[in-house]
Amino acid sequence: MPTSNAKPFKRTLVTTALPYANGPLHLGHLTGTYIPADIFVRYKRLRGEDIIHIGGSDEHGVPITIQADKEGVSPKDIVDRYHALHKAVLEKLCIDIDNFSRTSLPIHHQTTQEFFLDFERRGILTKKLERQFFDEAKQQFLPDRYVVGECPVCHYPEANGDQCENCGTYLSATELINPKSKLSGNAPILKETLHWYFPLGKYQDFLEDLISRHERDWRPNVVNYARTWLKQGLGDRAITRDLSWGVPVPLDSDEAKGKVIYVWFDAVLGYISSTKEWAEKQGQPEKWREYWQRSDTRLIHFIGKDNVVFHAIMFPAMLKAWNDGNPDAQYVIVDNVPASEFINIEGKKFSKSRGYAIYAHEFLEKFPADALRYILAANYPENRDSDFSWKDFQNRVNGELADTLGNFVKRAVDFANSKFDAAVPADCSLDDWNSVGIDWQKTFDELESAFEGFHIREAAFQAMEVARIANKFLTDAEPWKTYKSDRERSAKAIAISLNLCHSLAIIFSPILPDACDKIFKMLNVAERNWDNAKQPKLQAGHRLSGSSEALFKKIEDKDIAPELEKIERLVREFAEKEQAKAQAEAQNKTSIPDIKPTITIEDFEKLDLRVATVIAAEKVPRADKLLKLTLKLGDEERVILSGIAEHYAPEAMIGKNVIVVANLAPRKMRGIESQGMLLAVTGLDGKVYVVEPLGDGINGMPVK
Ligand code: MF3
Ligand code: ZN
Repeated sequence: MPTSNAKPFKRTLVTTALPYANGPLHLGHLTGTYIPADIFVRYKRLRGEDIIHIGGSDEHGVPITIQADKEGVSPKDIVDRYHALHKAVLEKLCIDIDNFSRTSLPIHHQTTQEFFLDFERRGILTKKLERQFFDEAKQQFLPDRYVVGECPVCHYPEANGDQCENCGTYLSATELINPKSKLSGNAPILKETLHWYFPLGKYQDFLEDLISRHERDWRPNVVNYARTWLKQGLGDRAITRDLSWGVPVPLDSDEAKGKVIYVWFDAVLGYISSTKEWAEKQGQPEKWREYWQRSDTRLIHFIGKDNVVFHAIMFPAMLKAWNDGNPDAQYVIVDNVPASEFINIEGKKFSKSRGYAIYAHEFLEKFPADALRYILAANYPENRDSDFSWKDFQNRVNGELADTLGNFVKRAVDFANSKFDAAVPADCSLDDWNSVGIDWQKTFDELESAFEGFHIREAAFQAMEVARIANKFLTDAEPWKTYKSDRERSAKAIAISLNLCHSLAIIFSPILPDACDKIFKMLNVAERNWDNAKQPKLQAGHRLSGSSEALFKKIEDKDIAPELEKIERLVREFAEKEQAKAQAEAQNKTSIPDIKPTITIEDFEKLDLRVATVIAAEKVPRADKLLKLTLKLGDEERVILSGIAEHYAPEAMIGKNVIVVANLAPRKMRGIESQGMLLAVTGLDGKVYVVEPLGDGINGMPVK
């Protein structure tokens, strides 16, 4: 399998997708990026390789401004709050990240503007006028996310302008049925605006070659996804937006006023600016170039599957565009994109809007980091979506971490401490080592290919296999029994066990850094080196620290009960809402009625239909459905009650031309005399539409 050995790489740059600073991190962020990346990085460090892990918060784009609007605070307030929370959570989760930056920093704005300007000066970008939704009340262009409406595919009524949450289809706002602005609630109009475009199509050959070269070493889902895009043919992509929050377009011209660079163009460059910030903090401001501009660096992006196009297509094309014109500053192109599938919760798709999510900071208030790291590694969604369940979490923590790994280490160390004076009581030869029941060669081959190949679930499984066999070895050897009858045998079993503890501490440390630190401490070992795990390093006389501590606490039913209840409640509430919606829809469903019996022209001529104009409108007290309309009909004024109050606001009716049955006998309703009737249609959607004739100078005239 081609791994890092395929090319003579000297160093590795690992990036984790920058989460939007618009809400707390949830299990999806951790499983998709931070956990696999951190496990990989820690493993590589054990092997003595030069590797850095770079990331940060994505602080631009409409996800931020929408959250700010929702809370009635500024975008800056939002990103300050969530960047701080992201940072704190990653620390608590023991993510060994070298720099966690933010895209609102000047260093990032500069980097982004440098790319934009370089492309603009070299004539790579084009400008085009396009028609975009505009909110007249708010005097603002609407990014796709600011528009909601009915999904043209599944008819979900509240699809976002960029994607339908219900069926997952990617949309553009102009495809929505009955689009509405999220800002004012009004229907937006289309208006022309100028934008800069990046010619992705020019890099089609380069990208096809990139994907083909990695056909074998990239995950099938990543290759397939990228190929789907390539097959459709790559066109120009707009890289500017009409927004006030973001990296300003760095041009002085009038046409650039009020425009910012598209968030995805800036976010991927965040990896570069974060590395620059890291280098500055090291006091070696040029050091970032070692990781970005030397061809012997291996660049790896850890992402979730929804970000593939940006990391396998957009970003490589941007770097290629730069490289084509800057022979002295050549960026490395990505070597792998380990994109994860999604993790579900108790069998259901994560949904922030439904509250169906597990947030990292809340989780870590109740359970330790290692437990979370382990469960996410063991359920890592490599090739298909996986599932998190609280019961599974409890079972694995108790059965695998506490009863297997924790119990083994504690028994071995406690026994050595109490009976053998806190020292390794005998030598452990290679023969002893091989008597344990582990095929070491095979085990390490499998562990290494799992860690190297980002097979996180497999790595966790193989490591736990070693713990299982070690635990069984100790149980079967019964040193507490042989201690009296055959002290040498007892000492040997303990020496072997302590060496197994040492190996486990190394093997598990990428996944369980906290627990493994404790093991190293108990064993009084400072050196962390992968190859040390392959052999018995602790020989007779090596002194332990003399103390011991439990590695994992068991999780009791009562610890997870509130979590299960919460999930059940959310599921129930959601089902109830769906049911109510379905019922309402069924009730409102109208079908097209049959045609009535034939009438003569004389019959029709009895009807006097007239155009009238609404001059006043108000709700009728205690009558939900009725509007009281005052109409001008020729020289006359009339009052008509109409059952349209649920469909038209009174203000919306004023000024409308309508058609009334002018010679209908008056009728009293709610104490008001209605002098005629308004023509209206009830649509199949159950909504009422008033018939509105178009034209000037038609008031009072008959309809024939
Ligand atoms: N903020 C994006 C998201 O949460 C990810 C950005 S990844 C990077 O989906 F390319 F910007 F880094
Ligand atoms: Zn849909």
